[in-house]
Amino acid sequence: MWQPEPGWQRLPGAGPSTLGVWAAREDDGDVVVKRLLAPTPHDPPEYLQPTHPAYWRRAAEVAESGVVAGTPGLREAELVRVREDAEGITLVHRRVPEAGSSGLFLARSVGRFAQAEVPDLPWLARDQLGARLSQVERRGGWATLDRTPVADVAHHLWLRREALLGQVAALPQVPQHGDPVPANLLGHQGDDVVAVDWSTLGRGPVGGDLGYLSLSTREAFEPLFIAYFTGLPDGLASPEQVMLAARVTAVYTVLTRADWALARVAGGEGALAGKFRHPSVAPYLLAMQRQFTQIEALLT
Ligand SMILES: Nc1ncnc2c1ncn2[C@@H]1O[C@H](COP(=O)(O)OP(=O)(O)O)[C@@H](O)[C@H]1O
Ligand SMILES: [Mg+2]
Repeated sequence: MWQPEPGWQRLPGAGPSTLGVWAAREDDGDVVVKRLLAPTPHDPPEYLQPTHPAYWRRAAEVAESGVVAGTPGLREAELVRVREDAEGITLVHRRVPEAGSSGLFLARSVGRFAQAEVPDLPWLARDQLGARLSQVERRGGWATLDRTPVADVAHHLWLRREALLGQVAALPQVPQHGDPVPANLLGHQGDDVVAVDWSTLGRGPVGGDLGYLSLSTREAFEPLFIAYFTGLPDGLASPEQVMLAARVTAVYTVLTRADWALARVAGGEGALAGKFRHPSVAPYLLAMQRQFTQIEALLT
């Protein structure tokens, strides 16, 4: 059985089909090891669907193909090796020094990445937001938000989701990282960001990555939008198009997360309203409050 070696240092994180991430020292320098787990029959079938955002092998496909090794705006950390065995895949990259870039620099870089030439590979993620909302739909929609003061707004947006997803699908589609949070946009090299965690690389509407990024940066939506737009190639999309995809992505993601966080504590004793300040809930509600301007814009 594969095991981390003694002396490796565990790093925070590890998504659903990941055993873990470790920092290690090798003869020729510092590396980061990520262990992907091959799906078992108990895992959701999406793990095996090459275009689904949860496809388990994507990070390894990205690394082996080198498609984002030299792309503008965002590029992959230098690959050391990929090893596969019966139980999973071990990915080893050079350790990237943390650059502490501002949200504005990240937004501009994510915009510049939209011009990257990424071939139309069969394992690129498609319709990421649609796939996530389908998962929510299968578990009954935003059922817990329905018991909060934002119930009316959430209900209205839930009913509008197909129309809005349709509008977004008609926008220019560009390469997207899929999980552009500061913890994945670590490094800085020349004018580009050195990014890790490419397991959701795909194509999506121009502005989609911006909406996602805006949920985890300190800066307000407007300045991030301007920085992103500055990074986009001329003539690719209008400000309104970018704004639409960014808003839809930010709003539907933040509501899904708030519902999920509330649902986890909703089962225990006591009224739901008494749990809004619970430490495992409060940050998600705060993140939702920060998006009220964007939410409002989608209601009209
Ligand atoms: N090559 C790397 N260099 C430096 N830090 C890394 C590297 N790869 C991952 N990390 C750190 O480990 C964290 C988790 O790794 P990541 O691949 O993002 O896994 P997860 O899928 O759990 O988010 C990252 O957010 C980052 O802080
Ligand atoms: Mg990550």
